Amino acid sequence: MEQFVRGLPKTELHVHIEGTLEPDLMFELAGRNSIALPYGSVEEVRAAYEFDDLQSFLDIYYEAAAVLQTEDDFADLMSAYLARAAADGVRHAEIFFDPQTHTERGIDAGTVIRGFVRARQQAAPEITSSLILCFLRHLPPESALEALEQARPYLEHIQGVGLDSGEKGNPPQPFAEPYRRAVEAGLRPVAHAGEEGPAGYVWAALDVLGAERIDHGVRAWDDPALVERLAGERIPLTMCPLSNQELQVFPDLRDHNLKKFMDAGVLVTVNSDDPAYFGGYVGDNYLAIAEALDLSRDDLVQLARNSVEASFLSDDRKEALQEEITAYAASAS
Ligand code: ADE
Ligand code: ZN
Repeated sequence: MEQFVRGLPKTELHVHIEGTLEPDLMFELAGRNSIALPYGSVEEVRAAYEFDDLQSFLDIYYEAAAVLQTEDDFADLMSAYLARAAADGVRHAEIFFDPQTHTERGIDAGTVIRGFVRARQQAAPEITSSLILCFLRHLPPESALEALEQARPYLEHIQGVGLDSGEKGNPPQPFAEPYRRAVEAGLRPVAHAGEEGPAGYVWAALDVLGAERIDHGVRAWDDPALVERLAGERIPLTMCPLSNQELQVFPDLRDHNLKKFMDAGVLVTVNSDDPAYFGGYVGDNYLAIAEALDLSRDDLVQLARNSVEASFLSDDRKEALQEEITAYAASAS
């Protein structure tokens, strides 16, 4: 099963590049930039990764991002992720980044984006990628508008706009104007919704922000009319099983509702969210959810197909990847 999953061609549509910062790179960058870390060793870092909820994770995640200072740092982070993803059978990744996390501490948005772009251009040809600029929902919409303006010179390198950070008490509605402008500038809208927040936030992400994909969306299960809409309109959910387990959304993965959504006809995908913090990259997420929910090989192939369909790739590339999946599934059986 492990070998099958690692070789299965797939896309990854929900990964925060700042969440791919492995402890060893964190130490390397801290040394390079003379930044003191509150940890003495890689083991101490890993021991600190015990989370009660989303916010307890975000506190550590934003703090760790301080080691990222130069264009080279952002390039190294991106290169490391792309290499690991490619080894997991990822043929294409649509990657979130949080410019405000960096501009708030005095790093120029251009430094961040140029680093990512350079790494993407130097990546192995087996994996393509695009960038999704996320607005931090715990900051005011004015800050989101500013982030968009700062990114404007680089928009040719950015494909989408997203919304992340602490969801409870931070509904989508105030971000209507930043989204309107981002979409006007040509970005494809997605949004985190229904991770810890209620199903109502998923409705708002769809109807107020115009989101084409919902990141997480597990709480949509509470509202049957919403599940019906997601299925009927083929609105993808980018689910992240190990994240949900580690952030206590589903402390026991056997209670995860991914298969229920699949059975209801929803276009569900499997992704890693913040793999350096939650114990695994995308392949590990496929394996963990397969084990917990007793998924079949056909289910896993379906999830890989869904990941292609749910992507922002061209129809031609989607078709080529679906053919690759068909050939792989046939040769492996
Ligand atoms: N930023 C990084 N990971 C996140 C998550 N799981 N939810 C919301 N914001 C995030
Ligand atoms: Zn996320």
